[in-house]
Amino acid sequence: MTGQRDAGVLAEEVRRLAAERGAVILAHNYQRAEVQDVADFVGDSLGLSRQAAATDASVIVFAGVHFMAETAKILSPSKTVLMPEPAAGCPMADMITAEQAAAFKAQHPGVPLVTYVNSSAEVKAVSDVCCTSANAPEVVRSLGVPRVLFAPDRNLAAWVATQVSEVEVIAWDGYCPTHDHVSAEAVAEAAREHPDAEVLVHPECRPEVVALADAVLSTSGMLRHVAVSPAEEFVVVTEEGLMHGLAKAAPEKRFFGVCPPMLCPNMKLTTLMKVRDCLQAMSGRIEVAEDVRARAAAAVERMVAIG
Ligand code: 13P
Ligand code: SF4
Repeated sequence: MTGQRDAGVLAEEVRRLAAERGAVILAHNYQRAEVQDVADFVGDSLGLSRQAAATDASVIVFAGVHFMAETAKILSPSKTVLMPEPAAGCPMADMITAEQAAAFKAQHPGVPLVTYVNSSAEVKAVSDVCCTSANAPEVVRSLGVPRVLFAPDRNLAAWVATQVSEVEVIAWDGYCPTHDHVSAEAVAEAAREHPDAEVLVHPECRPEVVALADAVLSTSGMLRHVAVSPAEEFVVVTEEGLMHGLAKAAPEKRFFGVCPPMLCPNMKLTTLMKVRDCLQAMSGRIEVAEDVRARAAAAVERMVAIG
């Protein structure tokens, strides 16, 4: 009880400070429940990019991982972008450097590089266009070319290749540890335990896991899907933070994860107290060098324009 009351007091303090600072709080769907609940907007990478680009607020507090806050700064350079926990990174984003991305392009002259937003600003800056899990097939299709380079996620690349069969997708060998470690056996077991459940899979999972899906969706895609699907039960193959949003999106339905549970340790580094401290001290500023930012913005804005 005391814990809940403390969280309530802290949440009120966060909202008061956000109003005083003219800040909007954006949170990813994998954030802790109490952080999601205090945010102005909770979403997937695409939705959060759109919010960052559209907000009138002069300060953006980004509860997520580093590449997400950096994308907000890329799109809104005049705004102050703060991260409550600047050490929250994404291991997949670290699996390719700008030098490696440039060398990848040099090996395939004339072939456009499509880069997943889970990447650094420097890598985006050498890319032709960005994509998220919500729009990757549309982005690749929109280029109208026979071949694309795709970095850093080999699993998302493999799924895109199945959706856009007319395009050859040459993939970088990166992956998300949280999603890549899920086995087909674990998903099959969960599906056996819940035979009436629809199986929803994030495209960062391995192809043999994606093959077991009834629907392959981004995190917000899953939130929208459960609200309209006739199914009453779902096996959800993505980071467990989404369970909070799913229960809100369809309170009468039942959601099951896989065993062992899927956790992104970086997403859990941000706490309500860190959000409060960040707003109080206006700390955790995200900066991107202007030459890098301008080139990265071209790739991100091209994506936002596509869908
Ligand atoms: P979404 O864009 O689907 O929310 O995914 C982001 C992410 O990091 C998944 O691991
Ligand atoms: Fe990165 Fe995976 Fe965590 Fe998403 S879940 S932020 S891709 S490590």
